[in-house]
Amino acid sequence: MKTSKSFINLIALFLSIYIPSVLAQACQNTCGSIPIKYPFGTGPGCGDPRFQAHVTCNQQQLTFSTHTGFYPITSIDYNNQVLYITDPSMSTCSCSQPSKGFSLDWNAPFNFHDDTVFALLDCSTSSSPIYKSIGANNSTSFPLCDSHGADVCSVLYSCQAISRLNIPDSTCCVYTPVDLGPSFEMDLQKLQCTAYSGLYGFNDQESNPDSWKYGVALKYKFNFNNEYPTMCANCEKSNGVCGYSEPYNSYVCNCPSGLNTSTDCLYGASWSNGLRFDHWKTGIFGIYSLALFVILAIA
Ligand SMILES: *[C@@H]1O[C@H](CO)[C@@H](O)[C@H](O)[C@H]1NC(C)=O
Ligand SMILES: *[C@@H]1O[C@H](CO)[C@@H](O)[C@H](O)[C@H]1NC(C)=O
Ligand SMILES: *[C@@H]1O[C@H](CO)[C@@H](O)[C@H](O)[C@H]1NC(C)=O
Repeated sequence: MKTSKSFINLIALFLSIYIPSVLAQACQNTCGSIPIKYPFGTGPGCGDPRFQAHVTCNQQQLTFSTHTGFYPITSIDYNNQVLYITDPSMSTCSCSQPSKGFSLDWNAPFNFHDDTVFALLDCSTSSSPIYKSIGANNSTSFPLCDSHGADVCSVLYSCQAISRLNIPDSTCCVYTPVDLGPSFEMDLQKLQCTAYSGLYGFNDQESNPDSWKYGVALKYKFNFNNEYPTMCANCEKSNGVCGYSEPYNSYVCNCPSGLNTSTDCLYGASWSNGLRFDHWKTGIFGIYSLALFVILAIA
């Protein structure tokens, strides 16, 4: 009798220690409806450490953050390595609103995609530095605005939300240094503009600003050689999620069982098979059945 009691205690201890760690997979492979793959992750320890501080999953909303704010990620094009974000403070054809601007963190592994166009709106034609001539004489060149962008400006200003502000087209500037200069800053207060629009596509309807793709497209690279790490590819093929562990940010493959391996989850599965757990669910079921069996056998 004594031995069986201590056996139950042992089982209880085993259940309380083992099951929570089995159930919790630290890294998820989706955030809301967005699939999460390398180099992104859903939290600390997931994905690539260089990207982790900039892209996180908050309550199933994948979010990009910079020192200027938090931006919902609308989609990720993994094949072309492009991240699409929106800025709730930007103006679109259906909504014009003041904004402080948008900036990237200089040390973040992101850059603007070539498709990204920034149109600065309602800029002061007398004091904004974007209109200042660099020439020694008073030529009327607009060095920071793309003259080819005038079409974008006039079409954008035809939107009801913007036309009712009743500001002349000349206050709109398609901002050409789209990398935003050495500090990746678009500070609208400094530039003396009150709003901006960001877009990354015209949807083949250049004259219909309602259908334009508003937002910001950002490129990213995996690493210097832009190579997808083989170990991580194998981890994802085996249903795992790539992550890293402190203190040296060493690679881990976070498996659906919640266990981490240094290879992939197939290795983990063969290890589990050794313990006759074909699958983590069967594994838990097995433990519960065993516990139930022991309890019934004793009662
Ligand atoms: C597995 O790795 C993740 C990511 O580094 C970590 O958060 C989690 O605690 C680890 N799980 C176990 C069981 O060690
Ligand atoms: C440029 O404009 C300023 C102010 O309008 C004027 O004082 C100056 O003489 C002009 N310079 C030239 C080179 O035309
Ligand atoms: C003044 O600017 C005009 C227009 O950009 C240019 O054609 C002209 O050569 C300039 N003159 C001088 C003296 O720099």
